[in-house]
Formats: sequence, structure tokens, C-alpha cells
Amino acid sequence: MNETHYQARRQTLLASIEEGVIILSSSPLKTRSNDTEYPYRQNSDFYYLTGFEETNSVVVLVKTRESNRVILYVEPHSDEFALWNGARLGVEGAMKLFEVDEVHSILEYPNHIKEILREHIALYFDFYDDSNNLKLAQQSAKELREVRGIKRTIRSFHDVTHLTRSMRLIKSPEEIDKIRHAISLTALAHHEAMKRCRDGLKEFELQASMTYVFLSNGAMNEAYGAIVAGGNNANTLHYIDNRDVLKEGDLVLIDAACEWELYASDITRTFPVNGKFTEAQREVYEKVLDVQLRVIEAMNPDVKRDWLQRYSEELLCQALIDLGILRGEVKALIEAKAHKKYAPHGIGHWMGLDVHDPCPYTDDEGQSLVFKAGMVMTIEPGIYIRADDESVSLKYRGIGIRIEDDILITESGCENLSFMIAKTVEEIESMCRS
Ligand code: GLY
Ligand code: MN
Ligand code: MN
Repeated sequence: MNETHYQARRQTLLASIEEGVIILSSSPLKTRSNDTEYPYRQNSDFYYLTGFEETNSVVVLVKTRESNRVILYVEPHSDEFALWNGARLGVEGAMKLFEVDEVHSILEYPNHIKEILREHIALYFDFYDDSNNLKLAQQSAKELREVRGIKRTIRSFHDVTHLTRSMRLIKSPEEIDKIRHAISLTALAHHEAMKRCRDGLKEFELQASMTYVFLSNGAMNEAYGAIVAGGNNANTLHYIDNRDVLKEGDLVLIDAACEWELYASDITRTFPVNGKFTEAQREVYEKVLDVQLRVIEAMNPDVKRDWLQRYSEELLCQALIDLGILRGEVKALIEAKAHKKYAPHGIGHWMGLDVHDPCPYTDDEGQSLVFKAGMVMTIEPGIYIRADDESVSLKYRGIGIRIEDDILITESGCENLSFMIAKTVEEIESMCRS
């Protein structure tokens, strides 16, 4: 992505408001425990508008009837900081790299913000920004009300993330390239796990082989905490312990993926620890796969996301009836939410700069969004049967299966961006053998 992309996004954002001041802050550094911090991750909305990856920075976008102005505040260069942590870009470095109107030291922000807010009536910000920048803006707005002779003062507050996240719904070709790259490395990692898997390994050993693939290919971060769940552990949806021994005759569910240049991938595969599905595992697996393929088949620019959710629930419910796990009619079972016991989560979510991209699912009237080319959504049906569920035939107990791919809506339908990852029973068994 080069500077023109970020510039264009800032112009689009500014064009969507009548007038006012927009403030977006970088993420803070987060302490893990004494003297140690979590790896730094930039705020996605801030990054979307700036491409700037340093902490303690703010972007201020100002719109009047006559003009637009974009001001970036950054940490100034410091020899002391550079000695311990490496050089920051600093004001001059940022000025060279970023096509904004002004770059200043973050130390100037408290004095500048009061001047910037003069004669503006609207403030746009992230309601979850708990940095000091907003408090300073609020304080300045309050003080300006007391100043004689100022005719216009801030009187309306708006959620800027609603605007940025509506923009983030439609991915540009450059964003899709980054997602594709993340997926290509995630594909290598899932295939590596299938090849290495055998009974007696620990779940974290499979995780380690995937992490090795990510890091050795330059993907420095996972997009989310990996789930490597052998056997009945797969029935704990957010299982992240990853410490159990993988057992002969069990399946293993892996939901793990990397991030590339802050863009996520999100992939789940479920395969037999010993490389060969049992008859019962295969029966459930092929049902989940059939649901996934049918849902993907139905995705195109005319479909509403809500409809797809309902459709997937009907298919999953029918699959559960076919397996003899539920008894009755689809309609009545869905009304009674009976399928939720075995298929409790949604069919998918937006994906992009965040693995759960926080883009809107409904329009301003609360109506479900209709798919449009450029949207990216995961499709991840699952069936989960707990080992202690005596209402289900013994052969299915302890089986938990999810299959997850990343789907791009196109002008004519959709494209499965993760098509290359082994998924049919035959492909998986063959990958496990190789
Ligand atoms: N990996 C998180 C999810 O599938 O939503
Ligand atoms: Mn997902
Ligand atoms: Mn996932």
C-alpha cells in the first residue's frame, strides 16, 4: 500500500462529513507484567487512515466549508529511546514519508488542539479511545465555550469508527493481496501440521510447527490465539490451552492463522490424528463440509448476510437430523433453537485488518447488509458433540468439527481465497500421509 491509498481514504472520510474535527489515536503499549509488554499492534482504524505503526501518535483531520487539513502528531526522535529501542521516525522522518499537511511532535498536541477546535461544531472520535488525547480535546472544547467572541463551539459528538468501519467493509485490491498472502502462509502452516501430526504429540507441538512456518516466512504475528484441540477439546469453542496429548483415533481441530502487514487470515481444519478418518468421523465431517460448500455456493452480491445465516442454520439442522442427532422437522427444531446445542456459533464474520473485522452487519435502518463485491467473510460451520452427551449415539460422542475458509464476494459471485488448503476427506488423508 503506498501513501496515495491512505490519502484517498482520508479524503473519502472527510467527504462523508459536513464539517468538524476528527481525532483518532494510535493504540497504547500494553503491559504484560512488570517491565514487559505485549508485542505492539497498531489500532486498526488509525492504521487504515495513516499506515503509521508507532504508538503515542494522533491523527487530526479538520474539515471546514473551504478546506481540509490532515495533521499527524508523532513521538519526536530521542537519542535515549533510540539507544534502548531503536530509532523512531520522528517529526522529520514522518514528514518525508507521509503525505499529510502537517506533522508535529505529540508534545505540541495539547496546545494545538484548542486552536484546532475553535469555531467547529462537531467532534468525531472513537468512543473507545481512552488515551489522554480525547480528554484534552473535551477539556479544550469546554474552555472554548467560556471564551468571549467565539460564535461556534463543539455541540455534537459522533462515532468516527462507524464511518471508518463502513469504509473498511469493501476491501481494495491491495488489501485483498495482503489477505491472500496471509492465507498462503496459513495454508503452508496447516499443511505442515497435517504432515507432522501423529499420536503422542502434544497439541502445542503442532502449534509450534505452524508458528515456525509463520515466523520463518516473515509473518511476525498470529491473527488470533491458536486453537489446537485434540478429541473432545474441540467441543470447547475457545480452547486455547493446547497442552493435551493427541490420541490415536481422535480428530484434531486447528483454528490458527497469521497476519500479514496487519491483515488477517482465519482458517480452521479438522483432521484425524493418525491421518485416517473413522467411519463415524467421516460421516460427521462430510455433513459439515457439505454445509460449508453449499453456503459458499450461495454467496453473491444479491444475498443478505442474515439470509445466509438462516440458510446455514437450516442446513446444519438438516445435517443433524440426517445423522440421527436431532429428531423432528427443520422448521420446528430451528424455532426451538434445538440445533444450537450442537452448532452454537454464527456462520461467519467480516475479516480484514481485524480477524473479527468490526464492520457493520446492518444498515442505518437496522436491516441486514446485502453482500457487495470486495467484502470478505469467513464461512465456518461446525458440529460439536460432547463426549458426555448421552443423548447422541456413542460413535459420535467426542467429535467436534469446524471447517473455516475466507471468502471474497466478487461481482459475479464469490471466490474462496483459501481454496488451496486440503479440505475433502481424500485431500486431507493424502496430505496427512505425505
Ligand atoms: N478464529 C476466530 C474465529 O474463527 O472466529
Ligand atoms: Mn472465524
Ligand atoms: Mn477461526
